[in-house]
Amino acid sequence: MKENRLQRLLDQAEQHNSALVAVNVSNVETIKAALHAAESTQTALILQVAPLQLDFQGIDYDEFVELVSVLARRHNVDYALHLDHAEEVEHCLRAIDAGFDSVMFDGSKQSYDQNLQGTKAVCYAAHRKQVLVEAELGRVLGNEAGSDEPSLDDVYTDPQLAKAFVEETQVDLLAVAIGNAHGFHVGPPKLDFERLNQIRLSISRPIVLHGGTGIPVDDIRQSIALGVRKINYFTELDSTFMNAIKQEAKENPSALMIQSFAKAQRALSDDIIAKMTYCSSAILGKATTPLASTSSNAYQPHVTASAQTEEVIA
Ligand code: 13P
Repeated sequence: MKENRLQRLLDQAEQHNSALVAVNVSNVETIKAALHAAESTQTALILQVAPLQLDFQGIDYDEFVELVSVLARRHNVDYALHLDHAEEVEHCLRAIDAGFDSVMFDGSKQSYDQNLQGTKAVCYAAHRKQVLVEAELGRVLGNEAGSDEPSLDDVYTDPQLAKAFVEETQVDLLAVAIGNAHGFHVGPPKLDFERLNQIRLSISRPIVLHGGTGIPVDDIRQSIALGVRKINYFTELDSTFMNAIKQEAKENPSALMIQSFAKAQRALSDDIIAKMTYCSSAILGKATTPLASTSSNAYQPHVTASAQTEEVIA
């Protein structure tokens, strides 16, 4: 039977009471930046892509699996490949067939029953091929949330419902809504740790925290202590990449595309290294860049990150 890479990494994270960083990647530059970050910190990571990101790139599921595996070949990195936020069962099935390690069926905008049925269907297909499934219960608001603000009880994950949902679907990972939100927000989100603790006590599954952008380091650490084993980052990393391109265009208006992309790749790698350093420090098993014990949201990148990145990213 084929080994599932994500299952092995989750087992390690559980053993070390730490979390895997999951970063959204969609092209050569972002994949290389993430692989370099993982290699230079000797930390496992999850590479993930959403169907929407594949659409933007015009890349199919099979092509993406091949692209990642070709680029990873020259890196000594332990990684798993995950499909993020698939709202259609069909997208999950395509990723399962293509060889992803795990898929997220996101039925959180649907009714409880539709979410349950969709998750069950995906689990049935995925588990036959040793692929893991992540589902979301409750609703992580953010960029995609439209107009009306629903009440918190409508959007936060209910621990008892989570228990019933996991038992009935046999889903492998559960993404929770405990005050986390996608994208940039005005102030740091206020996470409901009591609720997180109750969810942890009700389900024996790794918990996923979406909306990593803007969550203070201390809150990340507390979430990990309460069972979070996968933390998703996108917006802040995307902005790091874009800001580097804008900066290069400003400072060097005649820069070639390849020059500004190289700078953006390095900046992105440094930012991922910072996140890996505080999420996965227990997996590293060695002293990492000390982080101030403060709820400040200022990340502290590895001191040597840029220099290393210069050497490794070709
Ligand atoms: P952010 O964009 O808030 O970092 O969240 C990313 C995410 O949860 C992807 O699934």
